This record gives sequence, C-alpha cells and structure tokens, in this order.
Amino acid sequence: MARELTEVGVVGLGTMGAGIAEVMARAGLSVTAVDVDEAAVERGRGHVEQSTGKALARGKLAAEDRDAVLERIRFSTSLEDLAHAELVVEAVPERMELKREIFSALDKICPADTILATNTSSLSVTELSVATGRPSKVIGMHFFNPAPVMKLVEVVRTVVTEPSVVEDVEALAARLGKVDVTIGDKAGFIANALLFGYLNHAVALYENRYATREDIDAAMRLGCGLPMGPLALMDLIGIDTAYEILDTMYKQSRNRLHAPTPVIKQMMTAGLLGRKTGRGFYTYAGRDSAEVV
Ligand code: 3HC
Repeated sequence: MARELTEVGVVGLGTMGAGIAEVMARAGLSVTAVDVDEAAVERGRGHVEQSTGKALARGKLAAEDRDAVLERIRFSTSLEDLAHAELVVEAVPERMELKREIFSALDKICPADTILATNTSSLSVTELSVATGRPSKVIGMHFFNPAPVMKLVEVVRTVVTEPSVVEDVEALAARLGKVDVTIGDKAGFIANALLFGYLNHAVALYENRYATREDIDAAMRLGCGLPMGPLALMDLIGIDTAYEILDTMYKQSRNRLHAPTPVIKQMMTAGLLGRKTGRGFYTYAGRDSAEVV
C-alpha cells in the first residue's frame, strides 16, 4: 500500500522547479519551494503566477482554485524549511557537484524516511544517491516542460532504490494527474534518449544551411503532426539544458548521434539560451529576429 504524501518540497525554482511546485500544489499538496536567494524565489513565484494565470485564462483552473494553489506554496530561501517534507524534488541546474551538495544537505535536514527525488534529465541518479546516507530512498522523478501541461513522469530507479519508494512515487505521479513510466538509471532515460538525437540532427541541418529554421520546424509540425518544430522546442527546453543533456549522453554512450552540434555550445556561451533569455533559434523579446547561423 503506497504512502499518501501530503507535505512535499521542491529545491530550485527555475522553469522546471516552479512548474513542479505548481503541479504539486494543484493536486492539493502542501509545498515548500526553496531557491538560493530572494531574487530566485521571486522569479519562481512569478513563474507560478504567470502559469496559473494562463491556466485560468484557458479555463483549466477556477479563480478560487488559483488562489488556493498560490496559498499552498510556501516560498523560502532556506533548505532547513524542508525539515517536515515527506518527499523533496530537486530541480537545480544540471551540475553533479551542486546536486550532490544539495542531496547531502537534505539528508541531514529531512527525516530518515523522506524520499529524495531528482528531476535530473540525464545525470546518474545512483551517483547522487551515494551522496546521502539513504541511497535506497533516492529516486528520479523526471517531469517534462511545461510541467503543468505534459502528462509524463519518468520514474528512475537505481539498483538500490526500495520497491516501496518506487510505488510511493508512482502513486504520487497518479495523484498529480500524470502517467508514469519506470526505467533504470541510464543517461537520457527513455524520452530524452530518443528525442535528443532528433533535436541534435535538426540543429545540424540548420547549421549546415540546408533549410531555414522556419522550414525545418514547419516540416515536423505539418508533416509529422508534432505540436512544435525541433528548433522551437530547443528554445523551450533551453539551449544550456539541451547542451548538458546531449553532452552527458554522448560521454556515456559515445554515440555520434548525441555529439552536440557545435552551434549549440556557441549559443550557450553567447547567452542565447532560448525563451528564458528572450533569444535562441528565434527571438521572443522585441522585434529583432536575426538568424544565429
Ligand atoms: N496550465 C494548464 N494548462 C495549460 C497551461 C498551463 N500553464 N498552458 C497551456 N495549457 C494547455 C492549454 O489550455 C491547451 O489545452 P487544450 O489543448 O486542452 O486546449 C494546451 O495546454 C496547449 O496550449 P496552447 O495551445 O495554448 O499552446 P501553448 O503555446 O500554451 O503551449 C505546448 C503549447 C504545450 C508547449 C505545446 O506546443 C507542446 O506540447 N509542445 C511540445 C513540448 C514538449 O515536447 N515538451 C517536452 C520537452 S523535453 C523535456 O521537457 C525533458 C527535459 O528533460 C528537457
């Protein structure tokens, strides 16, 4: 019988973390949402306000439910506020050392039976688990962007994750209105392992000037029925995140399919990170819509 979790935490309030906090609060859970400083917390709060505003405008959320969602999220700059959480989802940037530090701190702060989950897209959950004294309670809980809309959660079990922890997280995913799939600890899990070869290939087509960005995207939207073309999707995911995912998968498999196309690194270095910075393959703020290659 799965545990019914009611108090949860989210660490890292970027696009994914804020989205995950929103999803949890929309399911009636009490959420403590933590980031490093006030500015980061305010960005996270703004993200939730904007997303729930959009849900309200689209008729997906009633006005009083929106207020209740915002009330169920307590924002904080201190990990100590997670001392009562039954499950914490970490969603900080994809750097192993940073994630290991957070897991090690959470291990000291949270009760011994708290489940520590990571939203990592490609780093090893096993390597994170051994930064704690409770590897059997560490698991991957991988959401998709935008978290309030995408139905999938990948549940990533390591060789030491307790089966009851997997069950608890699967039950939680169902309460969040998501469909879960379960996979072992392998870079890219299921969806990213299949998706990113395609995205990388689309960037290479563009970099080699075989086609315009608009035509590459139109081909996949209108020819294959995808909701977004690959270059627009790269901008939604974030060019930095996409680079990290490709690089990690390439280092693990040495499959050339995942060797990041050079322009991705160049865009990352230049700060063209996609929607979150207003410019990636496309421009989102202002009128300038210059091509990147
Ligand atoms: N809350 C609730 N519902 C929302 C919402 C929100 N904040 N924002 C949008 N929606 C709903 C809309 O009401 C609409 O529902 P309907 O079809 O029932 O009317 C639906 O979502 C689509 O919304 P729109 O038509 O208004 O289109 P948007 O421009 O808002 O969003 C999109 C479009 C959902 C982003 C769509 O283009 C899409 O699905 N794109 C592909 C996204 C994708 O592939 N994500 C995965 C990336 S990989 C990843 O995340 C892994 C990571 O590790 C990198």
